[in-house]
Amino acid sequence: MPESLPYAPPQADALTVNDISFSYPNGHRVFSAFSLNAKPGEFVAILGPSGCGKTTLLNLLSGFQQPQSGQISINQTAVRPERSELGYVFQAPQLFPWLSALENVRFGLRMTAQLSEDQQRAQALQYLRLVGLESAAQRLPHQLSGGMQQRVSLARTLALEPSVLLMDEPFAALDAISRNSMNEETLRIWAELGQTVLFITHDIDEAVFLADRVIVLNIAPGGIHSELDIHLPRPRSNLKTRRLPAFLDYRNELMERISHVMETSEAIANPTRQPELTA
Ligand SMILES: Nc1ncnc2c1ncn2[C@@H]1O[C@H](COP(=O)(O)OP(=O)(O)OP(=O)(O)O)[C@@H](O)[C@H]1O
Ligand SMILES: [Mg+2]
Repeated sequence: MPESLPYAPPQADALTVNDISFSYPNGHRVFSAFSLNAKPGEFVAILGPSGCGKTTLLNLLSGFQQPQSGQISINQTAVRPERSELGYVFQAPQLFPWLSALENVRFGLRMTAQLSEDQQRAQALQYLRLVGLESAAQRLPHQLSGGMQQRVSLARTLALEPSVLLMDEPFAALDAISRNSMNEETLRIWAELGQTVLFITHDIDEAVFLADRVIVLNIAPGGIHSELDIHLPRPRSNLKTRRLPAFLDYRNELMERISHVMETSEAIANPTRQPELTA
């Protein structure tokens, strides 16, 4: 841990989803006998087509919605929205436009009664430094690029020092170059802080680049299609890792699995459609 980061890294916690079922009030079933787990400090990517239940899963994990049966727990204790072990990074940065980057990061810390205002600012600044934005601390969100705004949003979540980080397509709105650079940044920060991460994405390359393990979901309520352990060396970098033959093998394997998921869902949606005959 460098001198410039005097905070204690959060302890990583295990996340367990045990045999849950969940339907929306209109009867739409999203999960049925669904289970998954993440080991302390593991980086898990969840890959699945639109509508398979990725956001619903994060809402259940964070305790904003309750499963009709089964349990979700962090280190064997049930999740609740107010549990401080959980940090949530959304697809859109959702910053307050009238607050500086520093005050946006400090916002969540205001609820932390044991810190004085000066301590809150110092902690917010440390996390802005961690995401490489110390020099932009006084800028308003509209004076920052999309990638910088997402860094502020990440710093705001990290400043609360969660031990489990839930990320819902956090870089989906960024261009490919910014996204690759944020992927590298995410791994640098994760190597320093070591939380358990559940990272949701549509992007196969992003999943392979980041994760220890990729979980592929079926169309709802199909649950888990399959899992793939990613044994690429760490630290990973855009220039080196994305060129490795093993990276391309993992990517091709996941492309095949996703197309299998799509074909299966197409067959379920159109059971009477005959395959086209070729001459
Ligand atoms: N409030 C709701 N009421 C009823 N059905 C819902 C509700 N919210 C989502 N759904 C349905 O539940 C399923 C899962 O939705 P969810 O938003 O979790 O998908 P997703 O995998 O995150 O999709 P995307 O990749 O497009 O973000 C979808 O079929 C969706 O239409
Ligand atoms: Mg979603």
